[in-house]
This record gives sequence, structure tokens and C-alpha cells, in this order.
Amino acid sequence: MTACPFTRGRTITRCLDDLARDHPSIRALEVGRIRSVTETTGHSTKHIACHPAVATLVSVDASAATRKPALEVVAAEHHGKIEFVDADAIAWLADADPAVVGTFDFIYLDGLNDADFCLKVLALAATVAAPGAIIIQDDTDGPPNVVKGDRVKPYAYGHPELFEVLADVPHDVTCHGMLVLRMP
Ligand SMILES: C[S@@+](CC[C@H](N)C(=O)[O-])C[C@H]1O[C@@H](n2cnc3c(N)ncnc32)[C@H](O)[C@@H]1O
Repeated sequence: MTACPFTRGRTITRCLDDLARDHPSIRALEVGRIRSVTETTGHSTKHIACHPAVATLVSVDASAATRKPALEVVAAEHHGKIEFVDADAIAWLADADPAVVGTFDFIYLDGLNDADFCLKVLALAATVAAPGAIIIQDDTDGPPNVVKGDRVKPYAYGHPELFEVLADVPHDVTCHGMLVLRMP
């Protein structure tokens, strides 16, 4: 696999590499598909869908307009892995098909920049996560107008029975920090 120079891509790939040792056929979920239609470097969709051990990526985003630019950065051979869901993540997760509960090995959260939204999504994501799943919340370390970690971080650290904090990746020039959690 091509080495990724961006912290976010490297973190996602390392987590998927770790999971792949026990799960050669990873089921992945992402909330928040694309930053902008012009950005071409950091897309989570690309880093997840193009990983060789990922069999399925369910990609949830409120905006259907993000489908096309997301596909443009994913090699065509991986398009078949992606199941697009255009929906509010809270509504979709709260009403999750019983068939998907407890099935996702890898979950990447990067939706609305709202602390309450992020906490609700994390709690709901935990219900669809498989035992031992890795959950990443993106953008947990600034800049000051980014509040995605404001409630998620204290909640995760305060509930070791629910989440093991595997890494608290600080911000750098390529990302705004990431909290990496493992489900029991
Ligand atoms: C920061 S961007 C995601 C960036 C993407 N993960 C990347 O790596 O490029 C946030 C995304 O969340 C989506 N979003 C906003 N509110 C949402 C909601 N309520 N449910 C699901 N997605 C939402 C936006 O449409 C936007 O595409």
C-alpha cells in the first residue's frame, strides 16, 4: 500500500492494519464523507475503502452531493465496497437495522461540528460496533472553533468500562487530532 503522508490517513491505515490481523474481511462505517468537493488529500472514504482488508464501507452523510466527489478520489476497483447512505447520522443509527447491530469492526466519526451531536453519534455507534471494534472520532484537538472532542473526549476517558482509549492523537499540520477507541 502507498504510504500516506497525512496523519489522519496514517492513523486510519494503521488501525485497519491492526484489525486485519484478526479480521481479513473488515466491515467499516464512516459518518461524514468528504470535507469539500475541491479537497483531494484527506478523504476518509478513500483511506478506508482502498484498504485491502476492508470488504464493506457503509458511508453515511447528510449530503447526497458528497457521493460524486468521494468516488472521484477512490480507485474504481474499490467502488463496489461502498454503500452510500444519505441521511442524518443520528436518525440512521437510532433506527439501525437489527441486522447491522454489533457488526462494524471499524467506525470513523467525522460529521457535524457540534459537541452534543458527536456524543450522541458515539453512543449510537457503540451499539452497531462489533466486540473489539475500533472507533475513531476525528478533529478532537482544535482549532478553537472545532468542538467535536469537547464532550466525546471526557465521556470516553470517564467510561473505561465502555471504551479503551488506544490513542489520543494531537493536532499537527495535517489534522486536528483524533481519539482512537476500542470497544470491549
Ligand atoms: C468534516 S466533513 C467530513 C470529512 C471527511 N471525513 C474527510 O475525510 O474528508 C463533515 C461531513 O459531515 C456531514 N454531515 C453534517 N451533518 C451531518 C449529519 N447530521 N449526519 C451525517 N452527516 C453529516 C457533512 O455533509 C460533511 O460531508
